[in-house]
Amino acid sequence: MDYLEITGGKKLSGSISIGGAKNAALPVIAAAILSDQPTEIENLPNVVDIRTLLRLLDILGAKVEHEGNSVRIDAGSIRSTRAVYEIVSQMRASILVLGPLLTRFGECEVSLPGGCAIGQRPIDLHLKALEAMGAKIEIKGGYVHAVAPEGGLQGAKVIFDKISVGATENTLMAAAMAHGVTEIINAAREPEIVQLCEMLQAGGVTIEGIGTGRLSVHGSGGAPLHYNKPISIIPDRIEEGTYLCAGAITYSTVTLERINPEHLQSTIDKLETMGCHCDVQGDRVTLFPPNGRLKEVHIVTAEYPGFPTDMQAQFMAVATIASNESLIEERLFENRFMHVSELNRLGADIWLKGNVAAVRPVDQLYGADVMATDLRASSALVLAALAAEGTTRVRRIYHLDRGYEDLQGKLAALGADIQRKKSQA
Ligand code: EPZ
Repeated sequence: MDYLEITGGKKLSGSISIGGAKNAALPVIAAAILSDQPTEIENLPNVVDIRTLLRLLDILGAKVEHEGNSVRIDAGSIRSTRAVYEIVSQMRASILVLGPLLTRFGECEVSLPGGCAIGQRPIDLHLKALEAMGAKIEIKGGYVHAVAPEGGLQGAKVIFDKISVGATENTLMAAAMAHGVTEIINAAREPEIVQLCEMLQAGGVTIEGIGTGRLSVHGSGGAPLHYNKPISIIPDRIEEGTYLCAGAITYSTVTLERINPEHLQSTIDKLETMGCHCDVQGDRVTLFPPNGRLKEVHIVTAEYPGFPTDMQAQFMAVATIASNESLIEERLFENRFMHVSELNRLGADIWLKGNVAAVRPVDQLYGADVMATDLRASSALVLAALAAEGTTRVRRIYHLDRGYEDLQGKLAALGADIQRKKSQA
């Protein structure tokens, strides 16, 4: 099994390019199912989760031609509407095929996602929304069995008790081919949702309220969508935030290219609170480290445009060497502090009380062997290793490969001493 060996204490410098967003690409790929013509997608991040979803579409019978950061998907040849456990258990976001399969084919079976390191992550909101549109849903043998009413899903008023990115995406895609108008109230407003709305609009669907918490989707009444132009995936705001944190934790000046600064506001705001300066020029941002020591930060994770939970672990790593105690409250996932004990192995001093972490300042982190537990936790361990004295070995980096394209290569390009190695075991 591969691991990363990082010798810390090196300053970083230079610039790197940011890739397409995994969490935008996944629903865009799923939305290809809504068309019976080829769909072209560009600026795709070449990461494991993307390849897993493309494999699922291939198993369903779609023609998938994937090359590097582009893919051509012809969902006209789909022959199966059963999303198997073998794939869904590897990546819970596969649940995003539920809405498109049901609305296009009137019936489907999708494996329940199962457990996740960061929380229970139920899909009740997804199912409730589809039932509101007339679907009959049954959970049996670990699968969701969904059947649309005769003639197809019907437009409906969907009110979410809680903001959910995935449930909003599944409902949008189901509504895109439904009969009539679907109103989604308390919808998620993430940039990834906006990209999906713009894709569906390009496919012929009218959507009002894009970017707000209230969406109205005028369904095509059963007609498949046609995406006549390639869809280019938006930059990955979490990848951007991760590399800006790499600059901050090593007190380095780094530049990121091909970013969307608008999507980065809350991250930049917190880095500036810690004493960094972020200079935005068009689609580039340069982080300048603080003159003195990094300052403490107080973070409460929230839905967009609030502070992203997917940046919580990375900021915790930076806060370990700040001048005073930082408080980090995780409000979206009930078990997203798996990185705490591993950061403490690197010499951090973090205490947990319920969903709040108190990150007490230490002067120095020290290299050690640590274990990755989930995607963002693993990137936090890499950041801490960059600042640590000595060598760190980060194991189980398959978590990293799920959502970061060539993280090791990009950090090495910025001057980090980082190698990917194979363990004997
Ligand atoms: C998306 O997950 C992202 N994944 C996550 O990123 C991200 O952390 C999350 O949104 C929040 O921003 C993808 O886009 C593929 P939610 P999703 O539904 O859609 C609860 C990463 O690191 N909930 O918005 O699964 C849920 O348990 C990943 O890239 C229900 O209770 O998140 C959670 O507490 C990790 N019932 C909250 O809502 C439901 O039916 C938000 O979850 C659905 C969700």
